[in-house]
Amino acid sequence: MQVVTTLDELRRARAALPATLGFVPTMGYLHAGHLALVDCARRENPAVAVSIFVNPTQFGPNEDLARYPRDLDRDLRLLREAGVDLVWTPTPEVMYPPGYQTWVEVSDLTRPLEGARRPGHFRGVTTVVTKLFAGVQPRRAYFGQKDAQQARVIQQMTRDLNLPIEIVVCPTVREPDGLAMSSRNTYLTPEQRRAATVLYRALQAAQAEYDAGRRDAAHLRATMQAVLDAEPLARPQYVSCADPDTLQELDGPVDKALLSMAVFVGETRLIDNLLLGYPGGVYPRYVPPGLD
Ligand code: PAJ
Repeated sequence: MQVVTTLDELRRARAALPATLGFVPTMGYLHAGHLALVDCARRENPAVAVSIFVNPTQFGPNEDLARYPRDLDRDLRLLREAGVDLVWTPTPEVMYPPGYQTWVEVSDLTRPLEGARRPGHFRGVTTVVTKLFAGVQPRRAYFGQKDAQQARVIQQMTRDLNLPIEIVVCPTVREPDGLAMSSRNTYLTPEQRRAATVLYRALQAAQAEYDAGRRDAAHLRATMQAVLDAEPLARPQYVSCADPDTLQELDGPVDKALLSMAVFVGETRLIDNLLLGYPGGVYPRYVPPGLD
């Protein structure tokens, strides 16, 4: 496994790998969710690259950039064991040198949900992912359904910019009690950790209603809200039943739906979602024209 930092090192290492390269962008502090993306990439490509970069431009001024958890030695050990070929660990100076002034922005899809609560977040994500794509030049890239809006936005960006990269979305990996794995779970106290299961319980309650044929969007939102309200340590920020393609809130009976939420447990902001009406509960892969 080669580990590179500068663009010069990256380009030499990339050139020695096969054209059909799978790529998993991450911010490190890896867990089983990240490693599932690596496994998915391994199965579909003869070689796999991973990036580790805590991207400052996607954090708001009051967010957790400074205290975002990091453990590069452990991450590299896990990636070596997973059979990864190339790891790119750029520094902020490599990605955003002095004088940096170019941004990638997806408009409509970044306005609701996470975009409404985290101004500038998706501009940071789409800009860094474009730069990571330009450096790594992958044939396929892998994202988690855990960050549903991010996956949807990256697929849109890839299409809009005519990037020759397949965007694959992999299922959310959960702890045994249902909590979606996240680097941010490490912030939770034991008591908060127990309360944090409420997100998945709320989603499951709404899915049960949907499965039983009670599919009114407002009813599904109210079902999630009622479960969240019963947990004293949880402070819901939003609860959504949205169109999976446009991410706009739905009314009336729903067929396909993205159920999603953001909930504060203590100071920690957790998100989770379920995609209803799609095989495997994930967005279908985006395959650019001519790449199939
Ligand atoms: P990060 O939070 O490290 O996540 C990297 C990838 O892992 C994302 O595609 C995310 O959706 C996926 N992931 C996280 N938790 C998961 C889980 N429990 N199950 C399945 N997949 C999971 O997302 C980012 O980093 C950044 O925004 C990034 C795309 C790297 C751009 O900076």
